[in-house]
Amino acid sequence: MCGIVGAVAQRDVAPILIEGLKRLEYRGYDSAGLAVIDKEGVMGRLRRMGKVRELEDALQVEPVQGGTGIAHTRWATHGEPSERNAHPHVSGDIAVVHNGIIENHEVLREQLKGLGYVFVSDTDTEVIAHLIHHERKSAASLLEALQKTVAQLEGAYGTVIVDRREPDHLVVARSGSPLVVGHGIGENYVASDQLALLPVTHRFQYLEEGDVAEVTRESVDIYDLHGNPVERELLDSDLDHEATEKGPYRHFMLKEIFEQPDAINSTLEGRLTDNHVAIESFGHNAREIFSKVKAIQLIACGTSYNAGMVARNWFEDMGIPCRVEIASEFRYRKAFVPENCLLVTISQSGETADTLAALRLAKEQGFMSSLTVCNVPGSSMVRESDMAFMTRAGAEIGVASTKAFTTQLTALAMLVTAIARCNNKMTEKEETQIVSELRSLPHLIKDVLQQKDAITELAEDFSDKHHSLFLGRGTMYPIAMEGALKLKEISYIHAEAYAAGELKHGPLALIDSEMPVVVVAPNNELLEKLKSNMEEVRARGGQLYVFADPRARLSAGEGVKVINLAEVSDMMAPIVYTVPLQLLSYDVALIKGTDVDQPRNLAKSVTVE
Ligand code: G6P
Repeated sequence: MCGIVGAVAQRDVAPILIEGLKRLEYRGYDSAGLAVIDKEGVMGRLRRMGKVRELEDALQVEPVQGGTGIAHTRWATHGEPSERNAHPHVSGDIAVVHNGIIENHEVLREQLKGLGYVFVSDTDTEVIAHLIHHERKSAASLLEALQKTVAQLEGAYGTVIVDRREPDHLVVARSGSPLVVGHGIGENYVASDQLALLPVTHRFQYLEEGDVAEVTRESVDIYDLHGNPVERELLDSDLDHEATEKGPYRHFMLKEIFEQPDAINSTLEGRLTDNHVAIESFGHNAREIFSKVKAIQLIACGTSYNAGMVARNWFEDMGIPCRVEIASEFRYRKAFVPENCLLVTISQSGETADTLAALRLAKEQGFMSSLTVCNVPGSSMVRESDMAFMTRAGAEIGVASTKAFTTQLTALAMLVTAIARCNNKMTEKEETQIVSELRSLPHLIKDVLQQKDAITELAEDFSDKHHSLFLGRGTMYPIAMEGALKLKEISYIHAEAYAAGELKHGPLALIDSEMPVVVVAPNNELLEKLKSNMEEVRARGGQLYVFADPRARLSAGEGVKVINLAEVSDMMAPIVYTVPLQLLSYDVALIKGTDVDQPRNLAKSVTVE
């Protein structure tokens, strides 16, 4: 999704802006641009289709210089990807970058045309530029013009504005699309994600909904929705800027797959006592809330939804009623809220528009409390939920989620345990067992990672296929869903997941030698049933690729390739079996030569509906 970077400094800001945009590339985009103003009030603007590199190359030929600037990576929503539609958009002396969608842009466009404004792009953003330009004529300051403008906007926006005539400051507004102010020494910055600014600062203030702010080299003044001056907490980020480098890995995705043992260690760190999950790690009043919980509602999108599907099984296995729903569905229907129901949102970014909207709506629907399982401190969901449990996976740059997913599952396993214990649905002995299994996870995942070469060999068989099927049962059905999602996201091979028992109700008709079938087969009580499903495939000439527990005693043969993983408990199996599916997708994508870290049409953080 779109990214924003802005800076006010004494030095030339173009390199800061370009570096910031590069760090936001992972979010997905189709064009990039910047506008920079020098001391004399000369504004240079440059926009390019494609990668930030194109913009950087263009800067060599047409340099822009100055100490105040804004920059943007665009992911088209209104208007095709083109240089004309790329940001910044300009109206007279004003230049604007914007993330989000202005829903009433058509009405505003007509009004502005009536005032004589000529539109040169198809974007909703251009209305902001003209509106500010119009309001600036009567407002006492650029900030006041922005306040008058946002009062007329409907929709979601994070926006940053510069005025050529006032070169020493930026004004910004946030409503529904995140913005963070970075504090430097004698220079300040803004961005849609702190990752963009890590090379220049580690001190951040997150703007809250409805905030507007004025940022100069020496000051940051923030005003709330009602125009009152407010202080927002200044936080020191502990994110390492190396976290956004690939290091020796060819892709971020591969790096992030291999980081999983460490990421899971971080998720667990300080949250397990000898034999217990530390309930207070979910919040100081978590014990009191958890002991009243009678039901759980999980809400998420994409990969995070798959994590929720696994957790639903875990909760219900413990006798705790649990529903899981895709956020974009939940937010538009009347959901039944059982008594004492805890709302749990799961989100890597904490900014996904649908999940955030569902969280906000749900607050009015009578849930007893809300908790988010999230990877980004200070994100909207973390701030707006009653409790937050950070997954601590570190920055995840690859669009296809890997370590964020396995740490979400780890966090959810801890949550299930904590809630079950608070409600006497689990014995102390059972808790001790789970705690010990959680501790063994990093080691189990390291074992799977050592199988990379064997998995690479399987990948050869997939690269010329157009379709594939992923099968699992119980908690492994969502893992089949996650495996299929990974493969389609990065290799563009159509992949569908089925609960293996459903095979005979349709997908069996698709089976032939051109349809590889991936099966996740840990040693659980559903294994025998799963074996029958595999036979159904084999009997019809299908080619099976099975990730199995050695105790399942599955052997390779005609139409079956088997990779045995280490022995693993029922509860840890979904986490461990995810990893070979990630590696398989990665290797297939590599053979196909797709853009692994930034697959076409996809975005890391989906901050529009
Ligand atoms: C996008 C990303 C996915 C992610 C989903 C939900 O589609 O490409 O990787 O799973 O959004 O994002 P969240 O940040 O809420 O987990």
